[in-house]
Amino acid sequence: MAIKHFLQFSDLKLDEFEYLIERTRTIKRKFKNYEPHPTLADRTLVMVFEKNSTRTRLSFEAGMHQMGGAAIYLNTRDSQLGRGEPVEDAAQVMSRMCDVIMIRTFGQDIIERFAANSRVPVINGLTNEHHPCQVLADVFTFIEHRGSIKGKTVAWVGDANNMLYSWLQAAQVFDFHVNVSTPKRYEIDPSLVAEDNTHYTLFDSPSDACQGAHLVTTDVWTSMGFEEENAARLKAFRGWIVDSEKMQRAQPDALFMHCLPAHRGEEVSAEVIDGPQSVVWDEAENRLHVQKALLEYLVLGKLDA
Ligand code: CP
Ligand code: NVA
Repeated sequence: MAIKHFLQFSDLKLDEFEYLIERTRTIKRKFKNYEPHPTLADRTLVMVFEKNSTRTRLSFEAGMHQMGGAAIYLNTRDSQLGRGEPVEDAAQVMSRMCDVIMIRTFGQDIIERFAANSRVPVINGLTNEHHPCQVLADVFTFIEHRGSIKGKTVAWVGDANNMLYSWLQAAQVFDFHVNVSTPKRYEIDPSLVAEDNTHYTLFDSPSDACQGAHLVTTDVWTSMGFEEENAARLKAFRGWIVDSEKMQRAQPDALFMHCLPAHRGEEVSAEVIDGPQSVVWDEAENRLHVQKALLEYLVLGKLDA
């Protein structure tokens, strides 16, 4: 059987996501009731981090422990990856010693080369181009709060970054629409969006992008790996803050999401992120539950109980 990887959101199909969402509900309920769920007993996850993380590391590591397995943390600083061992060789070796691998790295090409040389499933824990696990958690969080996301409108205010590209892929899979507003010179790179993706509209004004939205979401102005652009971005992104004025343009019951970490006063006001429409803590917690379902699915396939 071909190995299934999750390198970008479009790697799985709607029926697989529908299974994962139902499975996540079960896994979350069991977690809340302290019921054991040891479906990955004796299995090992290797996690490779070439960039910093709090949520991704914690959710994958805790998730594997909760499923009876083990998680091993490697980073560039103290593994041979940092001394130039080819990614293809690292993939060959790591995938002979474990059952599934998660990587957070820079270019998408790195994770693709890694996966091409891996005997086990590889999961994207964030690259410059994609953050599919986060958007899976976000879609699950929306469904949990509001029901089906089909036909709904998501407003994206800010940088055309990894989160946005994963949202655009999710829109195509789940059949919803994304209103996108980015500052000039920070627009979408068309080479990172499928040619047949008609599930988004571009807006010059971030407030107009929020009009009628069921969910308003944003992310940092400067992603990891782009730190040297920080000063220029601080100027260019002024105005692309999700504040109360923009939330008022959205549906009265619109949700606010942010993958975190957040900068209050830059991409989001404290009033919004700490306000009643914000579901950022549920969103962060749901990383744990959706990724447990994902790990189980990639390693074992669909399960009944
Ligand atoms: N949202 C997210 O991926 O957080 P971390 O960078 O802390 O893993
Ligand atoms: N876009 C951000 C997400 C961090 C979780 C980054 O890549 O740094």
